[in-house]
Amino acid sequence: MKIGFLGFGEVSSILSEGLLDNGVNVFTCLQGRSSTTKNKALEMGVTICPSYRKLAEKSEILISAVTPSTAVEVARDIGKYSRGIYVDINNISPATVREALGQVENKKTVDAAIIGSVKRNGSNVQIIACGDSAQDFAFLNDYGLNIKIMGTEIGNCSQIKMLRSSYTKGVSALLWETISAAYKMGIDEEVMEIIGETEGQQFKNSVNSRLISSFKHAKRRYEEMDEVKNLLSDEIDPIMADAIENTFEIILDQNKDFNNNNNNNNKDFKDAIEFKSDLKSYKELFKHLYD
Ligand SMILES: NC(=O)c1ccc[n+]([C@@H]2O[C@H](COP(=O)([O-])OP(=O)(O)OC[C@H]3O[C@@H](n4cnc5c(N)ncnc54)[C@H](OP(=O)(O)O)[C@@H]3O)[C@@H](O)[C@H]2O)c1
Repeated sequence: MKIGFLGFGEVSSILSEGLLDNGVNVFTCLQGRSSTTKNKALEMGVTICPSYRKLAEKSEILISAVTPSTAVEVARDIGKYSRGIYVDINNISPATVREALGQVENKKTVDAAIIGSVKRNGSNVQIIACGDSAQDFAFLNDYGLNIKIMGTEIGNCSQIKMLRSSYTKGVSALLWETISAAYKMGIDEEVMEIIGETEGQQFKNSVNSRLISSFKHAKRRYEEMDEVKNLLSDEIDPIMADAIENTFEIILDQNKDFNNNNNNNNKDFKDAIEFKSDLKSYKELFKHLYD
């Protein structure tokens, strides 16, 4: 079994780990890639193809795990060489996934979406897949992946992922607002205890992880809410999505102020948010933001 990855970042390296453990031959191409990507692929010991064309021709399943903004361009440049199945696993809207997969000449395509964090769940993270070739992609369940087929129409998985996103980001935004106000009033612990009585034992842990990750990934979440809003507005008037987007914009501004106040001169925002990646509790974060 020969599996190729376009892009070799967090997703590709973690999925590769599971596939390699199960005896799969994993390939990638490093032409034009950063040293971070090169090191990841070389450390993992995957086979390096000399060109993207060779990678596409060799792979029985070719997985595009690049960046949302390059998914279409990569499919346009490489899709024509794909002989096996081309899987797009990038976080993109239904329209964009249709555009990307429309470039694949042999039409053996899969719209796939990762549900949850690859970092937290490892190669067993749930992947949902749609499209006529989804069944063939799900063959990788015998090799350590966790793929669930959700339909045959390209774009369905992307829709599901976006609607899930609307829900999960909504919960995080509501928590941010509620717990921020409670913290400023000095009654956050009491409020959490009372809500925890109905929400269950995991509530406190979930608050911590949602608030910290909302702060760290505010930029990405704010941008994703725009995509969610566009999708929803085809069907309804998205009142909540507007409010969620506004909340993430506020969190993003707080994040920028926080980094500026801490003399973090990083121009690259991605690096700036890493600055406090060791935050363990929302209290530590709110102390910095509000006290
Ligand atoms: N991480 C997650 O938990 C998660 C969850 C759901 C969905 N996703 C989606 O999965 C995709 C990959 O995510 P990731 O976390 O692995 O991202 P990442 O760590 O940033 O890795 C992206 C990889 O794509 C490469 N790349 C960028 N442009 C390319 C191009 N034109 N041709 C070939 N390779 C290119 C990058 O190489 P350079 O280093 O050279 O830039 C890097 O190796 C994204 O679309 C993301 O939205 C990720």
